[in-house]
Amino acid sequence: MAHDTTTAPLAFSFEANPSPRSTEEVAEILANPGFGNHFTDHMVQIDWTVENGWADARVIPYGPLILDPASSVLHYGQEIFEGLKVYRHADGSIWTFRPDQNAERLQRSAARLALPQLAVADFVESVRQIVKADERWVPSAPDTSLYLRPFTIANETFLGVRSAHKASYLVIASPAGAYFTGGIKPISIWLSTEYSRAGRGGTGAAKCGGNYAASLLPQEEAYRNGCAQVMFLDGETGTRIDELGGMNVFFVRNDKTVVTPELTGSILEGITRASIIQLLQDRGYTVEERAIGIDEWRAGEADGTITEVFACGTAAVITPIGQLKSHDFTIGSENSEPGEVTMSIREELTDIQYGRREDRHGWMVRVDG
Ligand code: PLP
Ligand code: COI
Repeated sequence: MAHDTTTAPLAFSFEANPSPRSTEEVAEILANPGFGNHFTDHMVQIDWTVENGWADARVIPYGPLILDPASSVLHYGQEIFEGLKVYRHADGSIWTFRPDQNAERLQRSAARLALPQLAVADFVESVRQIVKADERWVPSAPDTSLYLRPFTIANETFLGVRSAHKASYLVIASPAGAYFTGGIKPISIWLSTEYSRAGRGGTGAAKCGGNYAASLLPQEEAYRNGCAQVMFLDGETGTRIDELGGMNVFFVRNDKTVVTPELTGSILEGITRASIIQLLQDRGYTVEERAIGIDEWRAGEADGTITEVFACGTAAVITPIGQLKSHDFTIGSENSEPGEVTMSIREELTDIQYGRREDRHGWMVRVDG
């Protein structure tokens, strides 16, 4: 049945996995989930056609997709995704963080990639549905969560280069521990001087697979140089800081000012970023969203005006950055301690997410029951 997104949300059917993981297996996985290694028993799928719109919303057993080899996503990379976490609170209830923001960003990504837009209510309902099906996969140990990966692929069987007339939205779920192994200690990042992640008018602000494909080679370079992440500069001048491969970045100054690169269309509009800006402003910090050059970071580090640098994102939460390495110079040091502002904002944000502190902005949405 076709679905009119202006009216009622989609109704989901449910097909139980006939061979779900055993209780013991789930317990073993949840004891040491890592990141992105294990997947739950079910997934969500909703199909779209240009003729009928979104239809056939369903929760089905997790498993391989059948894709025609001529599916457009396999050739032209017409794909977008999201990442959000589901948290278990001390009383056992299950919550997520600002899902409407992920839903709206998925819509913006869809618009840029010429893919169909799913209604916000249907996105949020898909989150509820996967949680309902796989509740037992939401871990309860400190700093663990169930990471959800909603994504949309173009799956029309057609090799012509135009936006596809068929697509599917799916949600898979993966229990998650820390993204970076080794606890909360400052990471080293690598400055990519040869490769850009985004160009003017490109897809930098969209969360599309192609952006990440382009980041993998520089990310390898980062690993080779002992760094956990790659930092990208703007594609036009190669002087301004954009973001990391999978995170936004903040600079804390010694004058109660915090600087983060402005949203110019080349960086991802991080939901963690927006939330941190709010929490900092609540504390009386001035947050400047503006261009910040690599030279400003170097000078600020040298004269002490920049006191802390941190990265943020759903997967990484808030991670202190100890040093930036490049072919020509290094900023900061490998052995620095996590900064005070970094750690206290991290604590405040995670306290809200895990229900340990008042949610004064109404960011948390209960998704069980
Ligand atoms: N920048 C990039 C390139 C990312 O992949 C992510 C992760 O989603 C972020 C920033 C942070 O976004 P968010 O805080 O919404 O997870
Ligand atoms: C996230 O933080 O959700 C991301 O998508 C970053 C990375 C895992 C791709």
